Amino acid sequence: MDYQVIIPAAGSGKRMGAGYNKLFLKLDKRPIILHTLDVFGSDQHCNKIILVIQQDEKDIFTELLLKSRYASKIEIVYGGDERQYSVYNGLNSALNSGIILVHDGARPFIRLKTIGRLVEVAAESGAAIAAVPVKDTIKKAIDLEVVETVERSSLWQVQTPQAFRFSVLMDAHNMASKEDFFGTDEASLVERTGQSVKIVESDYDNIKLTTPEDIYFAEAIMAKRKRSS
Ligand code: CTP
Ligand code: MG
Repeated sequence: MDYQVIIPAAGSGKRMGAGYNKLFLKLDKRPIILHTLDVFGSDQHCNKIILVIQQDEKDIFTELLLKSRYASKIEIVYGGDERQYSVYNGLNSALNSGIILVHDGARPFIRLKTIGRLVEVAAESGAAIAAVPVKDTIKKAIDLEVVETVERSSLWQVQTPQAFRFSVLMDAHNMASKEDFFGTDEASLVERTGQSVKIVESDYDNIKLTTPEDIYFAEAIMAKRKRSS
């Protein structure tokens, strides 16, 4: 089944501390963002990529995309100060039907298999998100004092992509905007509308490159994939 994807790439990468947008850092000699775009660019079911960028990085992105084989699928949109605004801007440039995915530019290791499953489940039920079971014991604490050990078997660590029927995501964003609600992912906006959100089990390789040590993990994942391909 076909789908479109919004890729927010308009952050500044503060926690990575590179001094510039972390998505231009290289993995295996290519900028992180190109690894992410390659996955969707090469997926025949992906018919449109809405790449959300900072306006003053337009030239850098244009240059990067010049040689890509899938440039015709990409539409560039300008982002906002918060990720949620960036996604909303992307949404306003999307085709207003079918299945829409949102996927962080900073997650280059997403697998086609997970994307396919998310699209299927979102088509059936309206909303589906990629996640992995939590491995560590999680405790809730106030002022460094434990108040609760949270039952781990029901905890999931949430990733992107998150997939929705177009109207489900648009309605959720409109409602959040009207009510000044901010969430750290799309699903948190959708949950508020009463729409059920399903989980699709993803894998632990689908990390978000956030802090400097994530680059070491990313290099190891890259090396593993090269060996097995
Ligand atoms: N993003 C965006 N618009 C923003 C903020 C973030 O499009 N205003 C994008 C980032 O480019 C990234 C994704 O959302 O691909 C996930 O955000 P995050 O990992 O937090 O990246 P940054 O915001 O760039 O990093 P930091 O929070 O450390 O500054
Ligand atoms: Mg951020």
